Amino acid sequence: MSSLERMEHQPRLTCGGPLSPRRLWHVAVGCGVFVLLFAATLIYGGPAFGASLLSSNNSNNDNVAEAVAPDAEKEAPPKPEPEFYDWHTRSQFRPVNQAVAGKSVQDLCDAFPKDLLRDVQPVLKSGHGVLEKRVKTQLNSVSACLDDHLLIFSDVDEEIGGYQVIDVLADLRTDFVDGNDQLQAYVLQKELADNGTLHTEAGSKVRGWETDKFKFLPQVSRAWRMRPEKRWYVFYEDDTYIVWDNIFRLLTNFDPDMPWYFGSPSPGARGFWMANGGPGYVLSREAVRRLAKDDFDDNGAFAGSALTQRWEDQMMHDCCGDSVLGLALHEDAQTGLSGLFPMFQPHPLHGVPLSDTYWCQPVISMHKTSAEDMVSLRKWEESRRIMQRPLLFADLVDYLNLTEVSVREDWINSDFGGYRAPGDIAHTSFEACGEACRAASNCLQWTHHLRDCTFVPSIRLGQSREPGIEGWRSEEEKAMEWSEDQRRYKAGWDLDGIKRWMSAPGRDCKTARWVRPSLKRIF
Ligand SMILES: *[C@@H]1O[C@H](CO)[C@@H](O)[C@H](O)[C@H]1NC(C)=O
Ligand SMILES: *[C@@H]1O[C@H](CO)[C@@H](O)[C@H](O)[C@H]1NC(C)=O
Ligand SMILES: *[C@@H]1O[C@H](CO)[C@@H](O)[C@H](O)[C@H]1NC(C)=O
Repeated sequence: MSSLERMEHQPRLTCGGPLSPRRLWHVAVGCGVFVLLFAATLIYGGPAFGASLLSSNNSNNDNVAEAVAPDAEKEAPPKPEPEFYDWHTRSQFRPVNQAVAGKSVQDLCDAFPKDLLRDVQPVLKSGHGVLEKRVKTQLNSVSACLDDHLLIFSDVDEEIGGYQVIDVLADLRTDFVDGNDQLQAYVLQKELADNGTLHTEAGSKVRGWETDKFKFLPQVSRAWRMRPEKRWYVFYEDDTYIVWDNIFRLLTNFDPDMPWYFGSPSPGARGFWMANGGPGYVLSREAVRRLAKDDFDDNGAFAGSALTQRWEDQMMHDCCGDSVLGLALHEDAQTGLSGLFPMFQPHPLHGVPLSDTYWCQPVISMHKTSAEDMVSLRKWEESRRIMQRPLLFADLVDYLNLTEVSVREDWINSDFGGYRAPGDIAHTSFEACGEACRAASNCLQWTHHLRDCTFVPSIRLGQSREPGIEGWRSEEEKAMEWSEDQRRYKAGWDLDGIKRWMSAPGRDCKTARWVRPSLKRIF
């Protein structure tokens, strides 16, 4: 469980280029030759050549390093600098897009720039209890094209879809695990796995998610142990949607030999910022090297989990593994978070509140995206990828049909960022609510339920909702006799208003807004 999941349980959370030689090669000689050149790089290890793959733009890095130095917050306000980089990025997929009708995600994998995975290490975290459901979906969507570059870390050693899933909790000290009341579920699960009864009913009752927080530090060390010296490590969860094209475009601009920790900022332990685990996070080689250094001897051989051992006490008392990791990075690796919200972001696809906060910015991740969305979004991404422009939040309007459908019944679109419509008339009916929304300046869509009209200032799909009365309503309201119609949730979209909003100046996204790291721009 990550800390944002806790927050999501609170009602009404208020929302507060690649190097030119490379570009030339692609244009002039095409990808096949490039792969050969890259192979040559590996063989000869020429530094200038090797550095061209996902290499850094050092002038940028220097700026950013200043902006996010751990102590930056304490100092006088930094010099104002643009909020966005003016990068001109290019997709590495070949072909950049392709017809997807009738094809599986696997069929589309030839276009994936797998050579980049030599530098970018994907690390997927799951748990035995959800492996079948979620990791299978991953292997059919976000993680479909990663081949044996992919590492899958979990809490039982087992196999899925041809992958060896690794129990990273096995790296905890035996003395720490034995008799530890917070790790009982893990111990029990291991016993069941050992005696072959994990797949019986006893196995399905194990509360494995309780031990998730203990995986965060071991998995960093394990990733380095299994795949040392990768330039970048991308950690994500089994319900995280990752836009790999945008990850690649992003990382090209940073130096992996600087200590980078990218993700969606969330308040962590001891007042430090951490990357919320759900939207995933990226660590540079230097950050991992620093963090895991005591786990390896001078020859790089594994010497035991010193990192995990050092933070045992924190793991016991902290609710969340992403928080322990953020603290360990700060203390052991002198690496503060470089917040890249909204590019890394906690909303699921259907919940993103499209607005100026989420519009011309590239989409890197979405958390809690449904299994169907994972697969169909992955295909859609493949069908519409654009060479010069990363996938932007604004593009999601098309996928979600948000300029097409004006009414959805048994649906709620206002459960994030909605506010009570002013006045009385709006509350009398769905139609009155819509009329008031169309007349209001800060309303693009609405939900009507019981006798409440809720306005929404963003463009958002929302989700289906069965008729009923919410638990938080007063006893009086619960006791009232509502008609079946009143108990239904009805959602409306002001399609004309949405189109006007979208065509207003500055919203055509001619330039992608690659945000600079910030700890002020948060969920
Ligand atoms: C590096 O970044 C600067 C500033 O954004 C830009 O002007 C320059 O073209 C970039 N250089 C390369 C090699 O991408
Ligand atoms: C397997 O292990 C569990 C947990 O220790 C135990 O309850 C169960 O009886 C064992 N089953 C068999 C068939 O040994
Ligand atoms: C959008 O519309 C298309 C075509 O009608 C449909 O297949 C798809 O499921 C819709 N997507 C969503 C998210 O409603």
